[in-house]
Amino acid sequence: MAKITYVEFGGKEHVIDVASGLTVMEGARDNGVPGIEADCGGACACSTCHVYVDEAWREKVGSPTPMEEDMLDFGFDVRPNSRLSCQIKVTDALDGLIVRVPEKQF
Ligand code: FES
Repeated sequence: MAKITYVEFGGKEHVIDVASGLTVMEGARDNGVPGIEADCGGACACSTCHVYVDEAWREKVGSPTPMEEDMLDFGFDVRPNSRLSCQIKVTDALDGLIVRVPEKQF
């Protein structure tokens, strides 16, 4: 279980307990966080679950795989701390994670 803070583009925060084994995308989708659309359902095939990982968490969360990087190319305003949230598995180690939702999904 990890407490994850999702920050909407406008600054509104959603603090959600997400079970280990789910993805950061599933935690958002199941709790109605706006701005994470996840059109492909987590198959790394749409890029509409794009988020920015808080700088303090980048190392712990890790880097995207080459396949994720290819998909991220379709994201809107992609930055060095961009990740597809369906590709981030939740573990206890991510307790306190902060991710920000981009202005829009492509
Ligand atoms: Fe489609 Fe993440 S939900 S790439």
